[in-house]
Formats: sequence, C-alpha cells, structure tokens
Amino acid sequence: MNQEVDKLIGEDGELETVVRAAQMIALTDATVLILGESGTGKELLAREIHRKSRRSNEPFVVINCAALPETLAETELFGHRKGAFTGAETHRQGRIQSAHNGTLFLDEIGELPLNIQGKFLRFLENGECQPLGKNTIEKIDTRIIAATNRDLAEEVQAGRFRQDLYYRLNIVPLTLPPLRERRSDIRLLIHYFTQHFMLKYQLHTPIYSRAVLQRLENYAWSGNVRELRNLCERFVLLHAGQVIETNHLPVELQIAQPTTYTHYTTEFILPDKGLNLGELEINLIRQALTKTYGNLSQAARLLGLSRDTLLYRVKKHEITF
Ligand SMILES: Nc1ncnc2c1ncn2[C@@H]1O[C@H](COP(=O)(O)OP(=O)(O)OP(=O)(O)O)[C@@H](O)[C@H]1O
Ligand SMILES: [Mg+2]
Repeated sequence: MNQEVDKLIGEDGELETVVRAAQMIALTDATVLILGESGTGKELLAREIHRKSRRSNEPFVVINCAALPETLAETELFGHRKGAFTGAETHRQGRIQSAHNGTLFLDEIGELPLNIQGKFLRFLENGECQPLGKNTIEKIDTRIIAATNRDLAEEVQAGRFRQDLYYRLNIVPLTLPPLRERRSDIRLLIHYFTQHFMLKYQLHTPIYSRAVLQRLENYAWSGNVRELRNLCERFVLLHAGQVIETNHLPVELQIAQPTTYTHYTTEFILPDKGLNLGELEINLIRQALTKTYGNLSQAARLLGLSRDTLLYRVKKHEITF
C-alpha cells in the first residue's frame, strides 16, 4: 500500500461499469479511447488495461500529444534515418517503434497536430510505420489506447481533428465520471490517500473533523481525484496527528456551503492503526476552549456536552487554558 497508487479506487456504480468493461477488453487487442475530465484517472485506467493484457511484460509507451512540437512530431513518432534532413546525424527510433509488442498510450490525443493525423491514421489501419528518410516500411505490433479530456466530436466539427481518425479510435470508448458525480466515493478516497501518504512519509494520520469532511464532500472538485489526492498529501505532511478544522482548508474550500451538523453519525475516520481516544479528547477540549476564549459554556456547546461535564473533564485531564 505504500507504493504508488496503481488501481482505480471507488465503489460508484458508473465507475465500476467502466472498470469492468476495461477488464473485459484488456485481453483483446482492441483500440480503446478513454474519455473524462482532467484528473479522473485516464492514465491510471490505461495502465491497468496494459497490466491485465497479454502484453503486460512488454513496454507501455506514453506519448503526450500536447507536448509534441508540430515540426518534430513526425520524427518523434515514426523515427528517422541518418541524413533524412539537415541535422539528422544518427538514426533515431520513433516512439511507435519502441512500443513494439507492447501498448502505445496516446495521451491528450485531441492535441495531435493536424499535419501528422493522416500518417498516424495509416499506421493505425495497417500497423505500418515509415521512418523519415527510409524507403521501406516497418511492421509494428502494438495495442493502442488513446485518452483525451476534450470532446472529440466537437473537435471534428471545428476542423481540428480528422473525422476518419476519430472513428478509427472510437471503437471502445470508456468514459470516467467526474468526482462530483460520484460523491459517495469521496470519503473512501480520502481514507485511502491519507493512509497511503501516512505510510509513505511514516507520519501519523491527521484526523478530519466532521465539518471538514462535509466540506470535502460538497466541494466541486474541478481537478477531480488528482486534486483530492494532492490535498490529502498536504494534510498528512502539515497536520500529521492533528485534528483538521475548516480553517486549515485551502481558501477555495473555506468558502464552501455552510455546514449542518445534525445528520452526521460519523465524526472522524478511525485510522486503521487506531488512535488514542484520551489524547484526542484533550486535544478537542483544548481547541474548543481556544476557539471560545476559555468560555466554558460555549466550549461545552461546541462539544455537545453540559458545562458541568466539560468542567469535570477539564479537571480530570488537568487541562490548563
Ligand atoms: N479512481 C482513482 N483511484 C485512485 N487514484 C486515482 C483515481 N483517479 C485518479 N487517481 C489519481 O489521480 C491522479 C491523476 O490521475 P490520472 O493521471 O490518471 O488522470 P488523467 O485523467 O490522466 O488526468 P489528465 O487529463 O489531467 O492527464 C493520479 O495520481 C492517479 O493515481
Ligand atoms: Mg493524463
């Protein structure tokens, strides 16, 4: 568990349907098109498909189409022979050739430069790859997985993406749902990533107050799981062993909907390793007293206790404030 996260976490029905479909087609060589907003796990799913395929011991080659400069895209993808153009001093293998027998993952396919789309389509149709300056053709056997957060049909309409290439890629489309449409997975993911980073950094787990959990569950998560994962990492690094309150949240989460406490049954996620309830009680009482500038009645209200009970516990734990 303290390795990098390598599987899609979630129990949401739509996500499970996508994961099941991915598992079904993993063993075939079918071309897969993964759609979904940024941070929804497209690359994670692509790697999972590769891992479950018969090509799992062969290379998984990633091409980030958004990072391909238009002028160099062709040699980057297909390679070139020595002397193919001024400056081509050696032979160069293309990214496509390095995926031979393995899987070729074309990330952000919507950004593939238009001038290369035709040549790329020809490669998809017959597996033929012709390095620049070479007269003969190389046959490459690779499985194609492409991903994009763009609406490719719209890109086709706008003339930025070839329609024939779109149809060739869109054989098995898999759409990952955004996090805000599977809110029931938020707690599960918080728990999962908190444990993950706690083990990774060998730190104590932070404790999420119910108000914080509610904000996290109601938040829009435009950066999806990536945004949530990064926040959990920050919490573990900055608040290990502490109670996280709403004022510890980043600004965008501070201005979330006001919370209602009444329908909460679980206040904290109990860490797998357990916690020290006595210490937690002292910690919470201190916080309540700090928040209310030592006003016992108000602090008791924050903790759902009577003033007398709070006073009794303050004396018992010898809490000074
Ligand atoms: N369901 C999930 N379970 C666990 N981790 C996830 C899940 N979805 C995404 N992640 C994590 O979120 C981060 C972003 O995921 P990934 O890179 O696969 O997203 P993406 O859809 O490719 O995003 P982009 O479009 O920005 O490239 C990664 O660290 C990944 O491990
Ligand atoms: Mg990605």
